[in-house]
Amino acid sequence: MATLKDALLTEVAEVLPTSGNKVTVVGVGQVGMACAFSILAQGVSNEVCLVDCMQDKLTGEMLDLQHGSNFMKNPKITSGTDYALTAGSRLCIVTAGARQREGETRLDLVQRNTDILKSIIPKLIEYSPDTILLMVSNPVDIMTYVAWKLSGLPKNRIIGSGTNLDSSRFRFLMSQRLGVAPTSCHGWIIGEHGDSSVPVWSGVNVAGVRLREINPAIGTDEDPEKWDELHKEVVNSAYEVIRLKGYTSWAIGLSTAALTSAILRNSNNVHAVSTSVIGEHGIDKDVFLSLPCVLNSNGVTHIVKQLLTPTEIDQLHKSADLMHEVQCGLRF
Ligand SMILES: NC(=O)c1ccc[n+]([C@@H]2O[C@H](COP(=O)([O-])OP(=O)(O)OC[C@H]3O[C@@H](n4cnc5c(N)ncnc54)[C@H](O)[C@@H]3O)[C@@H](O)[C@H]2O)c1
Repeated sequence: MATLKDALLTEVAEVLPTSGNKVTVVGVGQVGMACAFSILAQGVSNEVCLVDCMQDKLTGEMLDLQHGSNFMKNPKITSGTDYALTAGSRLCIVTAGARQREGETRLDLVQRNTDILKSIIPKLIEYSPDTILLMVSNPVDIMTYVAWKLSGLPKNRIIGSGTNLDSSRFRFLMSQRLGVAPTSCHGWIIGEHGDSSVPVWSGVNVAGVRLREINPAIGTDEDPEKWDELHKEVVNSAYEVIRLKGYTSWAIGLSTAALTSAILRNSNNVHAVSTSVIGEHGIDKDVFLSLPCVLNSNGVTHIVKQLLTPTEIDQLHKSADLMHEVQCGLRF
C-alpha cells in the first residue's frame, strides 16, 4: 500500500549514504560534545557520528543535537557503541578517556588512556582505513604517538590537537594586554601541550613588528614588564579552569573545529599541531610534539621551519626528552 511519503514524493534517484565529509567523534564527554557542537554549529561538517561506551549518554546527546537540526545545516547525526557506524569517516576525533582531576598533570593520565586507546584505534581503522586521526585525549602528544603505533597509519594521517589551543590562549592574553584583536596578535606556542610547552618569543609580532625588537628582554626574567607571565598563564590555564568548573571544553571544541575545517576543506592553513618531529630542529627521538604544520585533506603535509633561537631549540629538546622518557615506560 502506498504510504503518505510515496504520495508526497516521487523518487528520481537513490539516496546515497555518505556526503564525504563524515566526522566521527569518539567520547561524548565534555570535550567530545564541545567538538561535535562546534563542528555542527559552524557547518564544518554536516555528518557527525558519535561513539562512546555509555549507551544512554550517547542517545541523550544525539537526540539533544538532533533537536537543534532546524538551526544547523541539515545535519545527519548518528550514534552508537558499535564501530560499524563509523564506516567511511574522513576524520576520526578521539576524545575518549580519563581527564585530569584537580591538581593532576596531563602526564598522570598516560597508562589509563593508553589502555583505553587499545580498544578504540584498531576498530576505527578497520571501518575507515583511509581516515585521518585527530587525537585530543591527554596527554595528547603521547596519545598521538600511541595512536600511530596502534593504527599503522602513515605519520601524516595522525595528528594531535597539540598547542593549537595553547597558541589561542596565548594570543587571547596578548590581545588583553595590547587592546588588539587576538587574530591580529601573532604568537606561537610549540612543543608539548602541557607544562613544558615552548613560547616562541623571537617571533611574537603585531603587523610584522616583532615585540622582541622593541623589548629585547621580552619573555625573560629581566623583563620589567614581565611578559613571561603570559606563558605561565597559558601553562596554568587548564589547571585554573578545571579548578573553577571541573573540566575544560569550549576552547578545545573550537580549536578542534578549526583543525577539522582545515582538513575537510583542504585549506593548507598552518596550525600548531602535534606531529612526528624526529629530524626537526635536531630532535633525534621518535616523539610527537607541536610545530606549525600545513593542514589539508592529506593531514599534515609540511612542517614550517621556524627560525628558533638556541634557547627555544633547547626548550624544545627538553619537551622531546620528556616525551621520550614517558613513552619508554608505556605498556602496549
Ligand atoms: N588536547 C587538549 O587540548 C584537551 C583539552 C581538554 C581535555 N582534553 C582531554 O580530553 C579527554 C576527555 O575529557 P572530557 O572532559 O571530555 O572527559 P569526560 O570524562 O567528560 O568524557 C570522557 C568520555 O570518554 C568515554 N570513554 C571512556 N572510555 C571509553 C572507551 N573505551 N570507549 C569509548 N568511550 C570511552 C566516557 O564514557 C566519557 O563519555 C581527557 O583525556 C582530557 O584530558 C584534552
